[in-house]
Amino acid sequence: MSTHIGAAPDQIAPAVLMPGDPYRARWIAETFLEDPVQYNDVRGMLGYTGTYAGVRVSAQGSGMGQPSLAIYAHELFSDYDVETIIRVGTCGGLSERVGVRDVVLGVAASTDSAMNRARFGDVTFAPAADFELARIAASVGEERLLPVVAGGLFSADQFYSPAPEVTSTLAGYGVLGIEMEAAALYTLAAQFGRRALALCTVSDHLVTGEETSAQERQETFEDMVVMALETIVRMDGRSS
Ligand code: HPA
Repeated sequence: MSTHIGAAPDQIAPAVLMPGDPYRARWIAETFLEDPVQYNDVRGMLGYTGTYAGVRVSAQGSGMGQPSLAIYAHELFSDYDVETIIRVGTCGGLSERVGVRDVVLGVAASTDSAMNRARFGDVTFAPAADFELARIAASVGEERLLPVVAGGLFSADQFYSPAPEVTSTLAGYGVLGIEMEAAALYTLAAQFGRRALALCTVSDHLVTGEETSAQERQETFEDMVVMALETIVRMDGRSS
């Protein structure tokens, strides 16, 4: 048991898929995992463990925003010895290099959050994905002919931005998508010396105004979850 996760230490796998929405954790477990067991429902933040292609995998909701994700990621790393977390989420498109239904592989995550100022003072830490995980995920995406674009994410604190000009500036610097969690995940993985990656399907586009239907969103999300699971299987083969 940790403060926010009601699981025994061995109930959580070394590799975790982390959607923002806890119902998506349930959907991942019920759709892709063999013999899924729910290990958490504290605050409705559902978590499950099962196996995929013979490898133990967990699916744990993070909630929305960096403070919420940080609680779960911190406890998974510190109390459950989790080695790898792959965030599977959505983002808003910022760059014309991406369109809706593409998968952004978040190489780095800029943020307007104060969380890293509390950690590093005046130094601007650069939250980045684990290179091995990113490299393997990119290969898996390529082999599966998925529309993967690797580049920067903007982890914003506010969904309803009071300063859209900041987002435009970041888009001008090549940032591909806006979401709300990756920077905290990458920072915590760095703190604990573990691996993390954020994969985000582009659900809507802030510049072109393009949107996806609920069904398209579901299909793209499904392809991306398989990409994340296959990445975990391949990482598992390497480390054992
Ligand atoms: N902003 C923040 N997070 C998001 C967005 C957005 O426009 N779209 C999907 N996740």
